[in-house]
Amino acid sequence: MELIDGNAIAKQIVDELTVEVEQIAPPAPCVTLIRVGENPASATYVNKKQKVAAQIGIESRLLLLHESIEQGELLEHIDALNADPAVHGILIQAPLPEHLSDLVVFNRVHPDKDVDGFSSANLGRLCQDDPAGFVACTPGGIVELLKHSGVATDGRHVVVVGRSLIVGKPCALLFLRKSGMGNATVTICHSRTTDLPAITRQADILIAAAGRPRFITADMVKTGSVVIDVGINRVTDDTRKSGYRLVGDVDFEAVAPLVDKITPVPGGVGPMTVAMLMRNTVKARLAAAIA
Ligand code: GUN
Repeated sequence: MELIDGNAIAKQIVDELTVEVEQIAPPAPCVTLIRVGENPASATYVNKKQKVAAQIGIESRLLLLHESIEQGELLEHIDALNADPAVHGILIQAPLPEHLSDLVVFNRVHPDKDVDGFSSANLGRLCQDDPAGFVACTPGGIVELLKHSGVATDGRHVVVVGRSLIVGKPCALLFLRKSGMGNATVTICHSRTTDLPAITRQADILIAAAGRPRFITADMVKTGSVVIDVGINRVTDDTRKSGYRLVGDVDFEAVAPLVDKITPVPGGVGPMTVAMLMRNTVKARLAAAIA
């Protein structure tokens, strides 16, 4: 079994971007991060994104909005950022409070600033294999992890567990592409799938994105397969100062001995999501320069 080291691969991408950004004439790439309310996990992720941006030389701005903000007011903020030529990328950290519509909010971001790739325009571009589009960061990061680990997807069976807009669906579209790291046979499973283990056991590459702690057990994986664990679940742990620890969607201890390659949690997909956001922001800056 080989551990896929997301920290190391993300660092390599961050180092490459740092060199690339040094060579870009001012202004530096600039991303605005919007956080609504006080979700502690979201605060951690946004802080991490700002830290890595600073390291690369990407400017990041934080727009902190109250939990109870009306949708119309949030849309006005997005419109202002869409119209601001100094801002190349806009990201609204999910999850949003219940009263806000993900669809309306994500679709309001101008497609050329949508560095998260959640808008219908960018999902459509992904469907069309349009290289001008922005690929959602977590799915993009999964593809990079596999590429850097020497895992080919051509002709192989990729099984994605989870059908979310943020991970499951774009992941499936990526592996279906006719270009590099595509050409796979893709199956998407979800909470209504009958006999899930019978399907996941067919996976050459299993993407676990169900959002359920330790959901993928040893009987659900094929010996010698590659397992990518997208889950970041907080479970209570009284032995920790924080009172919790992070576990993935895969029962790591039981599954790891069976597989060829697997990502840990933390230190697998998580850092890649951040690295891909940075790559998308640099892409948005360069595209703005020639627009
Ligand atoms: N919440 C969980 N993953 C993501 C992500 O990639 N981007 C944003 N904006 N929110 C998230």
